[in-house]
Amino acid sequence: MTYTFLEPYTFSNKVALRNRVLLAPMTTSSSTPEGTVTEDELIYYLVRSSGPGAVITACAYIDSKGQAFKNGMGASKDSHLNGLKKLAQVIKLQGAKAILQIYHGGRMSQRQFNGGRQPVSPSAIRAEREWADTPKELTETGIHILVSQFGAAVRRAIDAGFDGVELHGANTYLLQQFFSPHSNRRQDDWGGSLEKRLRFPIEVVRHCQSVIDAHASEGFLLGYRLSPEEVEEPGIRLTDTYVLIDALIGLKVDYIHLSVGHYAQPSIVGFGNYKKQIPQQIADYVSKRVPLIAVGSIQTAADAEKALEYSQLVSIGRQLIIEPKWVEKHAEGKKRSITHYIDTAQKPIYRLPDAMFEMITGIPGWFPVRDGTSNT
Ligand SMILES: Cc1cc2nc3c(=O)[nH]c(=O)nc-3n(C[C@H](O)[C@H](O)[C@H](O)COP(=O)(O)O)c2cc1C
Repeated sequence: MTYTFLEPYTFSNKVALRNRVLLAPMTTSSSTPEGTVTEDELIYYLVRSSGPGAVITACAYIDSKGQAFKNGMGASKDSHLNGLKKLAQVIKLQGAKAILQIYHGGRMSQRQFNGGRQPVSPSAIRAEREWADTPKELTETGIHILVSQFGAAVRRAIDAGFDGVELHGANTYLLQQFFSPHSNRRQDDWGGSLEKRLRFPIEVVRHCQSVIDAHASEGFLLGYRLSPEEVEEPGIRLTDTYVLIDALIGLKVDYIHLSVGHYAQPSIVGFGNYKKQIPQQIADYVSKRVPLIAVGSIQTAADAEKALEYSQLVSIGRQLIIEPKWVEKHAEGKKRSITHYIDTAQKPIYRLPDAMFEMITGIPGWFPVRDGTSNT
């Protein structure tokens, strides 16, 4: 049996992946409190880097004030560099490309993770979350500092030996907050119209590209992850996303990575009369002008193949946590031995950092979980 997802893929900048599967970026909440990569994280990546064509890391913060997770990974200072070097090495050891995802949490950052400091955002509008603080509106100078911090994190990724960086413009974090009419109510050059709300993502991409041009050897990837819609009112709608996509294509990013819960997902804001699923509609709109990475609830070979009918690449998260050798097992015709749930009685086999294991098994309904002890 041959599968499209096992075929190699080459980006236009000649970076070649051995297959079309990527490990999706997943926060481990297992770095040190200072944001340094730990040995447990290295093991997590080591066992999951032998199959996929590329591994996208957990999101690493570009500024310690922008942390949305406990014990997240940092790329905000030079003392993070050693750990990032080890991480890039471990991922690349068995032939996967290593991509560092970078982010700032903006109004989704939490005081408890960033030294009690008030979060910042384009405007002083709280996220619609029970726990969220009202953020401080960014000053013009503050915005320019953030653009340069994204660039500094890219420089660290280059120095650490990564093959690329993914800008986390999804999941309601800072890059998305600038684009969103809910979180960006500014009336200056950084907000007020759709075009002005695009300015921050564009400046960040441009600045990161200039750092790459100046410091990376040829073939360093810059990807952009986006959430096509948001539930808030007002909020990002699909037609807004098309404008963002056109801008990213104009900037020549190397790929666009969707962030949705299911690869064939309907609209989350009720475009009831749309006949096609959201990711498929985006692919039609993109029309192969830029490589598209599909994602969401890909568990089986059939899922991956269906997603590849409209995308060039697929990223897999939970299933590669549950089954780190998912790619190899398909390549070797051993798909029958693949499991689709976490057996809490077998915790050590997953090689997950403790905090990550507790997190994913502790939130009901997030992962398929069984307690194997009750079945024996
Ligand atoms: C434990 C966990 C942590 C995650 N952390 C991130 C992250 O750091 N950055 C990101 O862009 N998405 C993150 N996600 C979302 C995944 O990248 C992915 O989009 C989502 O899990 C859907 O894909 P899946 O069904 O294959 O897991 C995370 C998901 C999980 C399960």
